[in-house]
Amino acid sequence: MEQLKEKINSALSLEELESIRIEIFGKKGILASEFAKLKDIPGPQKREFAQGLNEKKASLQELFDIKLEQLKEQELNKRLKAEALDVTMYSNISEKGALHPVQETMDKIIEYFVAMNFAVESGPMVEDDFHNFEALNLPKHHPARDMQDTFYFKDNTLLRTHTSPVQIRTMMRKKPPIRIIAPGSVFRRDYDLTHTPMFHQVEGLVVEEGDKVSFANLKSILTDFLHYMFGDVEVRFRPSFFPFTEPSAEVDISCIFCEGKGCRVCSHTGWLEVLGSGVVDPNVFKAVGYENVSGYAFGLGVERFAMLLHRIPDLRSLFEGDIRLLEQFR
Ligand code: DAH
Repeated sequence: MEQLKEKINSALSLEELESIRIEIFGKKGILASEFAKLKDIPGPQKREFAQGLNEKKASLQELFDIKLEQLKEQELNKRLKAEALDVTMYSNISEKGALHPVQETMDKIIEYFVAMNFAVESGPMVEDDFHNFEALNLPKHHPARDMQDTFYFKDNTLLRTHTSPVQIRTMMRKKPPIRIIAPGSVFRRDYDLTHTPMFHQVEGLVVEEGDKVSFANLKSILTDFLHYMFGDVEVRFRPSFFPFTEPSAEVDISCIFCEGKGCRVCSHTGWLEVLGSGVVDPNVFKAVGYENVSGYAFGLGVERFAMLLHRIPDLRSLFEGDIRLLEQFR
């Protein structure tokens, strides 16, 4: 017994202690073979023998546990010492990262609308037909549902093709007044100079009871927003069509490359299209169970804004992670 205690006490490492554990407590260990003797002990002494053995085992176990803790702490201290870092040490690595231009542009857009009292909402990227299309007045036969544009999953779900479904989700959750933007990733089967299968949009929605909200409100805030983003540009609202707004308008700014004189970027029109917008279509309100309300909505592509702001010619370069591009945004 004393010998065994001595043995445990003398262990210098966790490894050594582990082999001692096996030797003493293991299945074929010293204690096990002591217990095995039990069957040869005559009846009357059996009980006493077993009791003694159990006590012996318990006191060895106690000693073992203490030793184990000691060694663990010892080894931890050793490691901490060996791996110590001097965080105050001077480093000559001065390379810093920077926000990705898409994120930076997104932040600037959000900053504007938050200052204008909009709340920031989000929704799932895996959507269903109802939220992405049906409730937005895009009926079953609408060409936007084409397999060419939309990534479908097997079970009637899809990758959202725009952030507009967040409008629907917000209205189904809350009553007016609503004043939100919804930034996020969207997905379309597209890939060329100006399209990537994943890109980012910011959606906007304002709804009030009665007829408080009009096209004039939309026009005024988007004009102000575009001046905030692009500085001193001309802004024009051009009649257009979206299923979820009526009337609808696309918003153009005077070309920031040629100042409206006409160049390759603006296809010699002098204008750059930057936003979709309109007065919320009554069918959309009907789909979410709203009555007696008025509202406007808008949507924009963040990459397009980033490309214009930073004069990036190929959209795809935003997603290649090429350090030579990113370095320019430090
Ligand atoms: N969802 C449209 C798109 O992806 C953008 C858009 C246009 C959103 C007009 C709107 C809107 O809310 O009113 O092209």
